[in-house]
Amino acid sequence: MKPVRATACSNIALVKYWGKRTGVSAELNLPAVGSLSMTLDALRTETELHPADADAFELDGRPVHDVQAAKVWRHLDRIWAASGRDGARPAARVVSYNRFPTAAGLASSASGFAALTIAAATAFGTDLPPAALSSLARQGSGSAARSIFGGFVRLHRGSAPDGSDCRARPLVGADHWPLTLLVVQTTAGRKPIGSTDGMERCRETSPYYSPWVATSEADLDAAEAALRARDLPALGRVVEHSCFKMHASMMATDPPLLYWNGTTVTVVHEVWQARAEGLSGYVTIDAGPHVKVLCEPTTATALRERLAAVPGVLGVIEARPGPDATAAILETTPETIPEAGREEASA
Ligand code: DP6
Repeated sequence: MKPVRATACSNIALVKYWGKRTGVSAELNLPAVGSLSMTLDALRTETELHPADADAFELDGRPVHDVQAAKVWRHLDRIWAASGRDGARPAARVVSYNRFPTAAGLASSASGFAALTIAAATAFGTDLPPAALSSLARQGSGSAARSIFGGFVRLHRGSAPDGSDCRARPLVGADHWPLTLLVVQTTAGRKPIGSTDGMERCRETSPYYSPWVATSEADLDAAEAALRARDLPALGRVVEHSCFKMHASMMATDPPLLYWNGTTVTVVHEVWQARAEGLSGYVTIDAGPHVKVLCEPTTATALRERLAAVPGVLGVIEARPGPDATAAILETTPETIPEAGREEASA
């Protein structure tokens, strides 16, 4: 095994993934719906893998021992198995940093598992095509399948029981359409219920879950067409419809799943008011209280200033379509993530 450093960007789902397929192996982590995303240049994870005497995981400068670490080892086992190598997987020290402009509340399993996947595949000498890396990343976290690719990405749900046709494909590159995504932060805390548990509860108890699943494919096709045509009003309409359908099915879960806070709602209204006044942006919200706003770069600065002034908003991060995930073998064995980056990560 070779020491490796990998980088992967987070992504925002413009058409959402929410829910897992049933009747298939849970290990495959197959989604009930497809999804379509934009990879985000401003939200990056850097991960190094080093040969070690025992497995160890450090995240943003702190050792991690709990279930989060267990998920990392499990994922390394998966990639080792996919590499077809004999014998036990070598122990590894995993050092990972979220290079996000502000760390609070934005930690991403998408960029984390994408970076870990490509780092481990490179370290183990596994020569897998990006589509296969993406499928492996999906087993760590569904949204991570999309972060292997830059630009705009569609993850197809597929129907094969072994998941072989559940594939992420890059639709258009980062230079196709330099859209801006504003991440409007409305809290510093972590979300109370993680996506995996939330999805399961929603599937089991929400009367709106089935219609959510049944109507997703039409949204994906409409979003893909609007993306290819660079038609922001058409794309924005689907983006908001997909988001609010997902949240409606979350809220109808028993007990309810409400990921928003008061500021979330205020920001949504502010975006809609700005749009009515000719400053066009479209909102989307994940399983947390932050609001993500899709807009043209020409309106980004004015919209950003307006949203930053909303009471309760902690900050606004501006992102553009980002690059593919990459990995490189390190020439030196000692851990070499630069100190400057560490300061940025802990700021
Ligand atoms: C609301 O990818 O975090 O952000 O596969 O269980 O790890 P697991 O879920 P995860 O879910 C993301 C849900 C979402 C929408 C999306 O990113 O598509």
